[in-house]
Amino acid sequence: MNIVYHENTRTFHLYNDSISYIMTVMRNGHLGQLYFGKRIRDKEDFSYLLETCERPMTSYVYENDRTFSLEHIRQEYPVFGSTDYRQPAVDIRQENGSRILDLRYKCHVITGGKPALPGLPATYTETDSEAQTLTVTLEDPVTKIHADLLYTIFARGGILTRSVRFANLGKESLLLGRAMSLCLDLPDSDYVWQQLSGCWARECHIHTRNLEPGISSIGSMRGNSSHEHNPFLVLKRPNTDERMGEAVGFSLIYSGNFRMQAEVDAHDTLRILAGIDPETFEWKLDAGETFQTPEAVMVYTDRGLNHMSQTFHKLYQKRLARGYWRDKARPILNNNWEATYFDFTEDRLIEIASKAKECGAELFVLDDGWFGARSNDSAGLGDWKANRDRLPNGISGLSERIEQLGMKFGLWFEPEMTNKDSDFYRQHPDWILAAPSRSQSHGRNQYVLDFSRKEVVEAIYGQMSDILGQAKISYIKWDMNRSITECYSAAWPADRQGEIYHRYILGVYDLYDRLTREFPQVLFESCASGGGRFDPGMLYFAPQGWISDDSDAVERLKIQYGTSLCYPVSSMGTHVSVTPNHQVFRNTPLHTRANVAYFGTFGYELDLNKLTPEENEEVKRQIAFMKKYREVLQFGTFYRLKSPFEGNEAAWMVVSEDQKTALVGWYRILNCVNGSYTRVRLEGLNPSYCYRNAYSGACHFGDELMHAGLITSDETAGQVPSGVKPCTDFESRIYVLEV
Ligand code: GLA
Repeated sequence: MNIVYHENTRTFHLYNDSISYIMTVMRNGHLGQLYFGKRIRDKEDFSYLLETCERPMTSYVYENDRTFSLEHIRQEYPVFGSTDYRQPAVDIRQENGSRILDLRYKCHVITGGKPALPGLPATYTETDSEAQTLTVTLEDPVTKIHADLLYTIFARGGILTRSVRFANLGKESLLLGRAMSLCLDLPDSDYVWQQLSGCWARECHIHTRNLEPGISSIGSMRGNSSHEHNPFLVLKRPNTDERMGEAVGFSLIYSGNFRMQAEVDAHDTLRILAGIDPETFEWKLDAGETFQTPEAVMVYTDRGLNHMSQTFHKLYQKRLARGYWRDKARPILNNNWEATYFDFTEDRLIEIASKAKECGAELFVLDDGWFGARSNDSAGLGDWKANRDRLPNGISGLSERIEQLGMKFGLWFEPEMTNKDSDFYRQHPDWILAAPSRSQSHGRNQYVLDFSRKEVVEAIYGQMSDILGQAKISYIKWDMNRSITECYSAAWPADRQGEIYHRYILGVYDLYDRLTREFPQVLFESCASGGGRFDPGMLYFAPQGWISDDSDAVERLKIQYGTSLCYPVSSMGTHVSVTPNHQVFRNTPLHTRANVAYFGTFGYELDLNKLTPEENEEVKRQIAFMKKYREVLQFGTFYRLKSPFEGNEAAWMVVSEDQKTALVGWYRILNCVNGSYTRVRLEGLNPSYCYRNAYSGACHFGDELMHAGLITSDETAGQVPSGVKPCTDFESRIYVLEV
């Protein structure tokens, strides 16, 4: 990897084994974008890539010169109010009311490694040789605001990270109205846009659209990254598929309001912007103050979507997630939520945990309802003390009993919320986000605590660290069950109210940071009514997240398939639950429920006492299977093979690093009579290894399996041969292939 600056042409070239990123200081001092894509040879002069020409109805920068218009030039960090009429990356209001800005190259520095971003989650390096960072400082000559554009290129792979740090080195107070993390101008718009969208219980479905002139965008104004749109975007060439072709993935390491958009202009060039949602953001930057944007990550590939996803998976597994659990196979858990909801006693929990232990589970998680006056969702949030009516021995006593069973104990919190029916709210009614003299909206009877205030974060931290210090807690599920409304803080002045959404998220990060530092061995799982805040920002603190409140295996195929576009298997919380399923009332076979959940952190969300003895034996076999293969399932290389968005079947697989073990998950939604022959072409195997297929007992070379394919045809699809158990709807198989 290398970052080169060619003094004569004022050109930067960032390159590694996979990509090149080239930009230049233009004659007006702004940074121009020349190239981003597959690695090309370095040379002094790439200025021919900066195309300009005279066009009618254009505004120009220089007198007597009809070639230089920013409207027709690709730029790195375009400003508002210039000759460019596309949406800018930055917008700053000055004391005289002007928003005109002129960000000119001042200096740059190249450093080894990657600097941490104060207060924000970000990818990191462990040694300086893993990456290089270029910081280009731009300055506005009038206001003296500096914008440091940070670019980190990793030693290998198509990864480039971007963020911007503003420093007000002038005398006046400035108002940042838009401060995007990334702008990328591309020379053509021949891309297909893919996004991960949905809603509660239907997160991360893949949606695809063609780019047309104008703006395509996704975002959130809910205060959390949202169920509706994940902060992730793919632009792929029309012929790109999972196995081949060019694609660029854009991911924002942020958990609050965001915007990602692509603007196609009249000449078919493309501008991508990603960052904090400008609509709900304003930041006052007094003289001497700085502001750091969240980090955006771009991944380029010319080897198809699977390869793009694998690059994200490795990066987010190894250089975004951190700490004790980062590289460890995850404990198999039993969560009591769908087993009991709010209706439990200590003895009942012990009964559930004992059975889970007998079946081989390792962690028992007590979900909502253990604290304060909480017997339904109208009371208790904010009072993080055990409800002694239900739990006479408190959390300490319960956690000890669980540990005596030989299991670890985990606990649910929803730290950012309060119910009005709670001691916490009664003591601090002004600690919720609420606008003066206006009514307050609720979600699930709860109100959002003002995490922009240090004292609020401190008070919640105090309660949580007390419990974590006293009881034997190995895992925390951190929930967040409503979006923000009436975003106003009683603690901040009028001219800082535009900062509250972002300050709120900084408060959430601060609490996560303090707790994960103080309790480094506790495994954190993030959750927001399922996937309402399943984003890279959360992954920095919590290496796994509950991806959806929909636990039905068929629904999960789409959710997990979509989520895998950006996020690794080790980050996806996946549980086996009861039938009929509680969200869609569907009856799926127990083996299919497990066959889907294996591709995740794996656990059970039911009372195993309620299963038949045969089912319990099956659960024991499932848990033993997961223990044997979880290392490969969670940390192997993941491939999508057949999309549940495109047909009646879905398939995916993982391959171990040494390519000696592979597991293929194959799923058929509805049964068919006298069905077609089916096969799946596998990926990532060693062509010359001979793999034994545990399902059929046959052996095949890797090249056969990758090119001729794995036969998945169903021998019971026509007439059921005697002695063969017939398949039903929602059939699935795991094919274990071992050398
Ligand atoms: C959210 C979570 C669920 C469960 C409930 C408890 O909906 O996503 O898993 O924890 O809250 O109230």
